[in-house]
Amino acid sequence: MTRVILAGGFGKLGQAIQTGLMDSAFEIVGILSGHAHDSAYPVWTALSEIDQPADIFLDVSTPATVYDNAVWAIAHDMAVVIGATGLTDDQVADLRERAAGGRGVLIVPNFSLSAVLLMQFSELAARYFPDVEIVEAHNPKKIDAPSGTAVTTAKRIAAARQRDPEPTTTGPARGEVIDAVPVHALRLPGYIAQQTVYFGGLDEQLTLSQSTTSRAAFVPGVLRALQGVTQISGLAIGLDHVL
Ligand SMILES: NC(=O)c1ccc[n+]([C@@H]2O[C@H](COP(=O)([O-])OP(=O)(O)OC[C@H]3O[C@@H](n4cnc5c(N)ncnc54)[C@H](OP(=O)(O)O)[C@@H]3O)[C@@H](O)[C@H]2O)c1
Repeated sequence: MTRVILAGGFGKLGQAIQTGLMDSAFEIVGILSGHAHDSAYPVWTALSEIDQPADIFLDVSTPATVYDNAVWAIAHDMAVVIGATGLTDDQVADLRERAAGGRGVLIVPNFSLSAVLLMQFSELAARYFPDVEIVEAHNPKKIDAPSGTAVTTAKRIAAARQRDPEPTTTGPARGEVIDAVPVHALRLPGYIAQQTVYFGGLDEQLTLSQSTTSRAAFVPGVLRALQGVTQISGLAIGLDHVL
């Protein structure tokens, strides 16, 4: 069994992971959390309390805690999977230096296999269909708009295009233009996470769409990340590295 410390294990994503890791090849040896919780696992509320060895540190805690947790885990010779958001570019650069030549540190901005595959398929399509727009929909509490996944999708499409898109009209209803890809963000109750990429060509259209309907959708990607992180060295970003 591969031993895992789970940071943020009582959050919405963390609880889905607790369930998802049951009957897997991964054993949770303890949970790092902001507060004490009743649990079948040891629960620590500070890094200094952790008293179990582990192979992998899996972090789905908070933007405020993710960097310090990663520094600690690297210093304790663990592979690290980071699903929590909020690392700054400087912090990522610092973690890259700390991880160089050592155990894998995998930052996974999106554990959803369908979202990651949608980005890959969009890159392929963009080679033939440079005219493209993205529509993403999330629940009204989502802080950022457009979503990080939509921004990354737009940048990957732009890098894969082999010619410029046709010029179009501009204006407030045309979305936020990211690398010449208009991105439209809907914020509506009833939605968790959904993204559609519309490609237009000569008398033909291609539409790629994905959605996640609960946090359980992230578990297969978490399992892939846990399997893959022990096979890489140094820091990598994206689930693509372990698919
Ligand atoms: N990569 C992906 O695909 C993906 C998908 C969904 C979410 N996320 C990210 O994952 C993170 C968690 O999301 P969520 O929706 O589960 O949030 P959440 O429900 O707010 O849970 C966050 C958890 O972090 C815990 N926490 C607070 N301080 C901590 C500390 N010092 N050490 C360890 N844990 C601490 C909290 O513990 P207490 O309950 O004890 O206070 C809480 O349970 C966010 O950054 C979110 O953006 C990533």
